[in-house]
Amino acid sequence: MNGPTQEFWQARFIEGQMPWDRGAPNPQLIAWLEAGAFAAGSRVLVPGCGQGWEVVALAAAGMHVTGIDFAPAALALCRGHLEAAGLHAELVGADVLHWQPEAPADAVFEQTCLCALYPDYWVRYADQLHRWLKPGGRLFALFMQAPRASAAEGFIEGPPYHCDIHAMRALFPATRWEWPKPPYPRIFNRGIEREELAVILTRK
Ligand SMILES: C[S@@+](CC[C@H](N)C(=O)[O-])C[C@H]1O[C@@H](n2cnc3c(N)ncnc32)[C@H](O)[C@@H]1O
Repeated sequence: MNGPTQEFWQARFIEGQMPWDRGAPNPQLIAWLEAGAFAAGSRVLVPGCGQGWEVVALAAAGMHVTGIDFAPAALALCRGHLEAAGLHAELVGADVLHWQPEAPADAVFEQTCLCALYPDYWVRYADQLHRWLKPGGRLFALFMQAPRASAAEGFIEGPPYHCDIHAMRALFPATRWEWPKPPYPRIFNRGIEREELAVILTRK
C-alpha cells in the first residue's frame, strides 16, 4: 500500500501525535448545524472520524451518526467522548475503501479523511462516497489545502495530501455532483497551519 497504513494511524493515536486534532468540533460544522444545513434526524456518516469531536457534535444535534475508522485507538477515544456526553453513535472499525453501509445515508461529513489517503486511492474513495449517499444526499466536505513546493517536481508529500480544487472537480465531477458557486469559506487549522475549503456537494 502506498502512503500511511493502519499501523501508522494507530500509532499516532496511541502516542498522542495528532497535530490536526482541534480538541473540539470544526467551527464550520457548528456553523452548518446552526444554519440548519443538516435536516433534523439525518443519517450522517463520518469516514476517518478519528477521536470524533464531529461525531459527538452531530449526535448532540440529534443526528443518527456512524463514525468509521480503521484505528482502534481512535474509536476508543471517540467512544469515551460519547459516553462522557451521554450520547450515542454507531462506531465501525473498518477501511473506508471497502466498507458499505446497510442503507444509503442522507449526508457524509468528510474532514481530513481524503487528505489522509494516498492519492492513488482517491478515485476509489470518491466512488465510495457517491455510493454511500442517497440521490439528493449531501457531502459536507472540508478540502485540505496543503500545497508544497516539491509538487512542482512531481513529488507527492503527505499526509495531509493537498486537495487542490482542480483535483476535487475531477474526483467529484459535475455529472455526479452539484457544486455551489465559489468563493468557499476557508477554515484555519492552527495545529497544522493549514486551511480547509468548506464545500457542500449534492449527490445527483
Ligand atoms: C488526519 S486523521 C483525521 C481524523 C478526524 N477526521 C479529524 O479531523 O480529527 C485521519 C483519520 O482517518 C483514518 N483513516 C485513514 N485511512 C483510513 C482508511 N483507509 N479507512 C478508515 N480510516 C482511515 C485514520 O485512522 C485517522 O483517524
